[in-house]
Amino acid sequence: MKGIILHGGAGTRLRPLTFSGPKQLIPVANKPISQYVLEDLKSIGVVDVAIVLGETFPELVMQHYGDGSRFGVRITYVNQGKPLGIAHAVYLCKDFVQDDGFIVYLGDNLLQNGVKNYFEKFLINDYDCMVLLKEVEDPSRFGVAEFDDKGNLVRLVEKPRVPRSRFALVGVYFFKPIVFEVIKGLKPSWRGELEITDAIQTMLEKGFRVGYSIVDGWWLDTGKKDDILYANSLILDEYGVRSIRGELVESKVDGRVSIGEGSKIVNSTVRGPAIIGNNCVIQNSFIGPYTSIGDNVKVLKSSVEYSIVLEGACVESIDRLEESLVGRNAKVIRNTARNSVRLHVGDYSEIEL
Ligand code: DAU
Repeated sequence: MKGIILHGGAGTRLRPLTFSGPKQLIPVANKPISQYVLEDLKSIGVVDVAIVLGETFPELVMQHYGDGSRFGVRITYVNQGKPLGIAHAVYLCKDFVQDDGFIVYLGDNLLQNGVKNYFEKFLINDYDCMVLLKEVEDPSRFGVAEFDDKGNLVRLVEKPRVPRSRFALVGVYFFKPIVFEVIKGLKPSWRGELEITDAIQTMLEKGFRVGYSIVDGWWLDTGKKDDILYANSLILDEYGVRSIRGELVESKVDGRVSIGEGSKIVNSTVRGPAIIGNNCVIQNSFIGPYTSIGDNVKVLKSSVEYSIVLEGACVESIDRLEESLVGRNAKVIRNTARNSVRLHVGDYSEIEL
């Protein structure tokens, strides 16, 4: 079995963060989202992995993953350029896949329990394709499955206005190479993309064996800021550990808190689950649960909760920073001497005062 991780797409809903990197590299609990995907593939023994690169800083993806040896896998890079659709991206991997079965994993999807059980089901049943489904509140944001009276999967529709079920397509797909023949015959959808949902629908119509599994545990498509904060809280809840390598000075650290090397916590409280990277300074502050702080961050005279603060940022004199995503090297500082707000904000930023 081989693996394909999709690392392209435009990431418009995550601007301004995607002005300086692809969305799949945004860290959740201080680790890029697509690294959870790669580690999941590795954990089931898939070590030949293609990463499909888009137009948004592909060099940063190659810099992070290299040849894969640091992660115990072999990585082949495939350039897609413009996001012409998931099926288009998959088709570009035809030479990489050759005659093997393969898993396509969207680089912005996270599954609580990984894909191990579904992978085994795909192999045991010898399906031509297997999809994963999850019941959701708002299925019209996703590809949606339709079933007949006996519970057989009969139709898949991409982002229907009137969904016929609440079962959304999760961004993990298992295929045999026959899917390449099907993609060859596809036409672009109304949004101008070659849709993987249409490819699988065609497989159903042509009588190929398409199986499905309902996903256990949480599943997240981290397309927007709130999804990323929620993913951060779930991952810290699930995997947060207590590990204190930095220095504590007159400070209190409660519960599962990880503090990296060279970091200094002075006259502050940190309440877990939380993670603080290397070489940070946290002074006269409160770091609340579900917060991830990247390397080289300063938090001074502030309180931060349920937030992600990325590498090199500085937060100073902010009473209650909550549900926030602060980008790399950003500064959020209250000037206590002034009675006005002064901003120097990037394009597409959002500020709620
Ligand atoms: O997350 C699950 C959903 O993913 C499914 O329910 C939908 O059926 C499926 O079409 C897809 O919908 P999205 O609208 O969320 O797809 P998005 O454009 O966000 O792309 C998903 C990932 O694939 C993202 O990491 C970017 C990458 N991608 C996307 C396209 C269109 C590429 O690498 N190349 C592309 O051409």
